[in-house]
Amino acid sequence: MKNALRKFVPVESKFSSSSLTFYFAPAMTTTLRRATLDDAAILSHISYVTFEQTWDFFYTPEILKQYLKENYSEEAIRRELLDPDVMNFLAFVDGELAGFMKLSRKQTLADWITDRCIELCRIYVYKKFQDQKVGKLLMEKAVEVAKEERVESIVLGVWENNHKAVKFYTGFGFEQIGTHPFIVGTQVDTDWVMRKRV
Ligand SMILES: CC(C)(COP(=O)(O)OP(=O)(O)OC[C@H]1O[C@@H](n2cnc3c(N)ncnc32)[C@H](O)[C@@H]1OP(=O)(O)O)[C@@H](O)C(=O)NCCC(=O)NCCS
Repeated sequence: MKNALRKFVPVESKFSSSSLTFYFAPAMTTTLRRATLDDAAILSHISYVTFEQTWDFFYTPEILKQYLKENYSEEAIRRELLDPDVMNFLAFVDGELAGFMKLSRKQTLADWITDRCIELCRIYVYKKFQDQKVGKLLMEKAVEVAKEERVESIVLGVWENNHKAVKFYTGFGFEQIGTHPFIVGTQVDTDWVMRKRV
């Protein structure tokens, strides 16, 4: 009971002549920092788990396994962390990794994009932390970095049927500006290319 109570703090109090009322809300400490080479293992884990949780229905087990190995193995993540044009940011809730976001100065979506832009390559939040504003925190960081980098826009690719993510991006002012093929193994799907001016 003591531990359970420790998780709550009063956020508002009201005093009336007869009573003092406290309204309680969960106390959640969210922090954010840039990933370093030492984070390769936790980044690999969150990438694997979130990708699998989101898309395992969509790919055959063989294709999924191969894609995860090529892109999210510790070795693959380590290579990314060594790339000076790539920035990964980690969000923690009460010290536990909750989500991450990857930005790249090298836009790989389409050669018809002529803006000076930064690519938001990934934004993944563990299922148990979704809908608790972790994605928002990461997106705000992406906008902050884009401004620091003095680019004109942030661009991203999102699977056309990932309605949850499309709504999330639209809520932050991204608009669809085209499509591009997203290739996983032998499967070719359509991603929306979305852009937000900064
Ligand atoms: C998409 C994702 C990053 C969103 O992160 P999240 O932490 O769940 O979202 P948040 O709680 O921060 O929501 C931020 C805002 O987006 C809105 N939003 C989030 N999901 C939404 C949905 N399905 N429909 C409408 N709005 C939504 C929230 O209402 C909130 O708006 P508000 O601040 O006005 O209330 C997360 O759900 C995720 O990791 N999904 C799986 C991986 C994935 O698909 N990544 C994108 C790949 S391109």
